[in-house]
Amino acid sequence: MPEEKPWSGRFARPIDAAVAAFTTSIDVDRRLYAYDIAGSIAHARMLAHVKVLSEKECDTIVGGLESIRTEIEAGKFSWESRLEDVHMNIEARLIDQIGEVGKKLHTGRSRNDQVATDMRLYVRDSIDALCQRIARTQAALLVVAERETDTIMPGFTHLQAAQPVTFGHHMLAWFEMLSRDHARMKDCRKRVNILPLGAAALAGTSYPIDREYAARLLGFDEVAENSLDAVSDRDFAIELVAATAQLMTHLSRFCEEIILWASSVFGFIELSDDLCTGSSIMPQKKNPDVAELIRGKTGRVNGALVALLTVMKAQPLAYNRDNQEDKEPVFDAVDTVSTSLDVFVALLEGMELDRDAMLRVAQDGFTTATDLADYLVRKGIAFRDAHEIVANLVRLGMDTDKDLSQMSLSELQGRCKEIESDVFDVLTLEGSVNARNHVGGTAPAQVRQAIQRARKRLAAYDD
Ligand code: ARG
Repeated sequence: MPEEKPWSGRFARPIDAAVAAFTTSIDVDRRLYAYDIAGSIAHARMLAHVKVLSEKECDTIVGGLESIRTEIEAGKFSWESRLEDVHMNIEARLIDQIGEVGKKLHTGRSRNDQVATDMRLYVRDSIDALCQRIARTQAALLVVAERETDTIMPGFTHLQAAQPVTFGHHMLAWFEMLSRDHARMKDCRKRVNILPLGAAALAGTSYPIDREYAARLLGFDEVAENSLDAVSDRDFAIELVAATAQLMTHLSRFCEEIILWASSVFGFIELSDDLCTGSSIMPQKKNPDVAELIRGKTGRVNGALVALLTVMKAQPLAYNRDNQEDKEPVFDAVDTVSTSLDVFVALLEGMELDRDAMLRVAQDGFTTATDLADYLVRKGIAFRDAHEIVANLVRLGMDTDKDLSQMSLSELQGRCKEIESDVFDVLTLEGSVNARNHVGGTAPAQVRQAIQRARKRLAAYDD
């Protein structure tokens, strides 16, 4: 049986079966049903408001759409690939259900402004849900930061032990990255929350529509200024996916550190058993798969961004069917980053620290060398000369297998006579972190204040 389409009136021959299968999007876009129905209800109410529909017609249409929503949510709706997409499936069912009046819903509208509206509603909701997940992850980081404010670990540059830092400070670095992700989402939301409806196919419509009225019903801040742009623009989707790619890139970096720390080579942390897996061949293995998968899934989110940019490049105005390809990357990016944030929180909550192991590495790596150089500067030596003196002492330490703090005063004075017995205060790890006592520094006293400020910033997210 050839497929009958809602638009087939103009055609002499029915659609080719392969083309029908190729062009349908129902398996992907049915997920927009709630937004499609909300958009249609607002459109019908707007049409009644400007008297293109009677109040009675509008009520019948709205009632029909609401019962379709119930049907879909009860799993009783039969989605038909013949009807191509979510828009035509719902409209056909409406006509089925309420008869002739259902045919009036599409007055002054096109699927082009309809789908753009659906996508903006979906993206807006996704941003709000992602912002909550980001905030929850940040709150989990603050719990760890607070518990580990005084815990000393080696800080790294080039993955070489560099200077001691506090674990709380490290958690707050992650917190900052997520703060920017949150801000990016909020900023993107401003450009998402603009109503395309009313643009119709591309040029607007000849009905006396009231776009501000529909915008208010749907919670949009403003109406799109230009109808051609309104139906073709997908910047808002690109921006969201760019923000998710950046967020995944952050999670990937956190996970890379977790993987390193959990390795027996570092031995800084132990991950919770229920979040790890074993090996089918090596009985001793406990693998950090969750962290590895988050790192790996960053690839598909970054891929989604490239996919969307490529879908849009070279599209002439206005709507082109290319735009139908926006959905899978957007949905996949949002789903992936959402589940990744959820399991990442679990990872954080189930992470146990081996504080002695971190201390040992911090101790063994000459990580207070900069502190010694700063000490020499305070004794009147120029920094470059101080750097040279300490480098010589580090070489001595490597030869004699001693950390700077384990050297005798005379050994130290052998390289620099300005060194006095008070030097040992700056050579301890605690002395080193406590000395970095300014805004943004790693001193526990500063970290405690930073945590307080961070809590206030989190609380202000809801304002
Ligand atoms: N399924 C289409 C999409 O997702 C809806 C718009 C179709 N418009 C058209 N003129 N064929 O973009």
